[in-house]
Amino acid sequence: MRVKVKVPATSANLGPGFDVAGVAVTLYNTFTFELIDQGVEIVGCPEQFSGEDNLTYQAFCAGAEETGLHFGGVRIECRSEVPYTRGLGSSSTCIVAGIVGAFAFMGRYDDRQDILNLATRIEGHPDNVAPAIFGGLTVSVMADVITTLNIPVKNDYRFVAFIPPFTLSTQLSRSVLPDTVSRKDAIGNISHLSLLVASLINGHDEGLRIGFHDHLHQPYRGSLIAGYDAIMERLEADTSVLGCYLSGAGPTIMAVIRADDLMGVVRLKEELHDCLDGWEVVKLEMDTRGYVCDYE
Ligand code: HSE
Repeated sequence: MRVKVKVPATSANLGPGFDVAGVAVTLYNTFTFELIDQGVEIVGCPEQFSGEDNLTYQAFCAGAEETGLHFGGVRIECRSEVPYTRGLGSSSTCIVAGIVGAFAFMGRYDDRQDILNLATRIEGHPDNVAPAIFGGLTVSVMADVITTLNIPVKNDYRFVAFIPPFTLSTQLSRSVLPDTVSRKDAIGNISHLSLLVASLINGHDEGLRIGFHDHLHQPYRGSLIAGYDAIMERLEADTSVLGCYLSGAGPTIMAVIRADDLMGVVRLKEELHDCLDGWEVVKLEMDTRGYVCDYE
């Protein structure tokens, strides 16, 4: 028996929701797990990630420990669409898949709350793993357990990902953030995230145009990303863009447009053509299911 787990990419933070908000999008990594007599065999990923420190394998071991799964060895096949270290939650797909794989061998593939608690413990924050698990657009609070709720998004939007040809590690991107923030910046983010959530629920696109602004992480991270200021400036100048933000820890920049803005991507590519040398522009939808697990 093999267990197949398909996990969506995620775009975390959504501007002011640092470590809190995230959305699952229609780009997927797929992992297949098979128990073998001994050892670990990992295929389909670059050689340097195919050892015992592989994140999916580590998460599988954590899931096995949590569920009491005893296994000799495991073979993991990976098929990935989600670009690595680009702020689209590729690490979270590995963590979620590994845990779900182990849970599935114990018949617990749908224990999403337990999977969320463990995935957050491994990742350190819930904003990528929560939408990867539940789908949709989520907000989460970290306490003894993780409380995650889906935001019922009223209108239909598209997420346009501007993916650069270079990577940025989350570790480096977090290292430039200050440990303390001013009351003004704290209030700034509380107010903008509240407006963002209320606007998504009410379909109030004018509120979105204000709500995506952030004071806690983007001002510090922009300088790590060549082209960031120019791209953000052009996106903010386009009156059909409802919001733009740094996806996760970056370096991908995300723009939100209405689903009926059919020429949106073509227009944005033209408006930004001189800032996008080597950047990929990908139009994504919101994934509403989260991970999908199947036995073969
Ligand atoms: N909230 C996280 C960050 C997402 O911005 O660092 C990336 O792991």
